[in-house]
Amino acid sequence: MSEQVGLETNIIKMKSDIPVNLSTKDLHVWYGKNEAIKGVSLEFEENKITSLIGPSGCGKSTYLRSLNRMNDEIQIARVTGEILYHGKDVNTPETDVYEMRKNIGMVFQSPNPFSKSIYDNISFALKRHGIKDKSALDEAVETSLKQAALWEQVKDDLHKNALALSGGQQQRLCIARAIALKPDVLLLDEPASALDPISTSQVEDTLLQLKEKYSIIIVTHNMQQASRISDYTAFFYLGNVIEYDETRKVFTRPKIQSTEDYVSGNFG
Ligand SMILES: Nc1ncnc2c1ncn2[C@@H]1O[C@H](COP(=O)(O)OP(=O)(O)OP(=O)(O)O)[C@@H](O)[C@H]1O
Ligand SMILES: [Mg+2]
Repeated sequence: MSEQVGLETNIIKMKSDIPVNLSTKDLHVWYGKNEAIKGVSLEFEENKITSLIGPSGCGKSTYLRSLNRMNDEIQIARVTGEILYHGKDVNTPETDVYEMRKNIGMVFQSPNPFSKSIYDNISFALKRHGIKDKSALDEAVETSLKQAALWEQVKDDLHKNALALSGGQQQRLCIARAIALKPDVLLLDEPASALDPISTSQVEDTLLQLKEKYSIIIVTHNMQQASRISDYTAFFYLGNVIEYDETRKVFTRPKIQSTEDYVSGNFG
């Protein structure tokens, strides 16, 4: 589906008939003098799950965070190049970052619900975005909890503190919180790494359901997870994207030897 243009690392375009809602062009990220992302151009297909894989320190989180400008929060980080959201460059000073993060939501590695009720965890951001009507809030809370496959477990306890939920439930609450704002892209950085196998599989099932509505980009160290849930996989190494293709190709017939070594566990 994707094609590697020439033999150049980092520049991977989708075929022209594939709908793309997010892409980067020549994206570089520096932390001071350390260049963590070295000119990555990738396109993400709508309503698909894309996994970012690669060894520790190769720039997966840095790249993911740049997609919704979270690196802005890191003082020494500098990001150049284009981040195109529906064709518009959002890596510009004029971009309303707050509004943009409503469209490109993020879920972090460790579940980080607020010490508030389940209901308030979800309604908080909606209120800040101007939704005040109680019935609209009730409906948004219910819908997003249902989409995150948590509703049945918490519907009678919406006013319980979110920190009393299990880790897997907290992570699904964080997913519900992100999707309540109706983003169309969801970024997840190792969302299941702190979870047991049952919670992990619940989060994976949730993501598979969500891709009907959202485009999902997920960083994972879990090769089985990448091959189970993602349509596309990008292999990052030392700040470059070495290979990006349909997941089944990356896992069964990679074009590049280092990808093969990594996915088969023989790396380094
Ligand atoms: N906040 C930061 N300040 C300075 N350097 C950073 C920061 N975050 C990451 N880096 C550096 O950028 C490089 C890429 O790190 P990054 O966290 O993106 O890797 P990663 O692929 O997500 O690794 P892991 O799999 O361990 O999470 C590393 O050299 C790291 O030290
Ligand atoms: Mg990381």
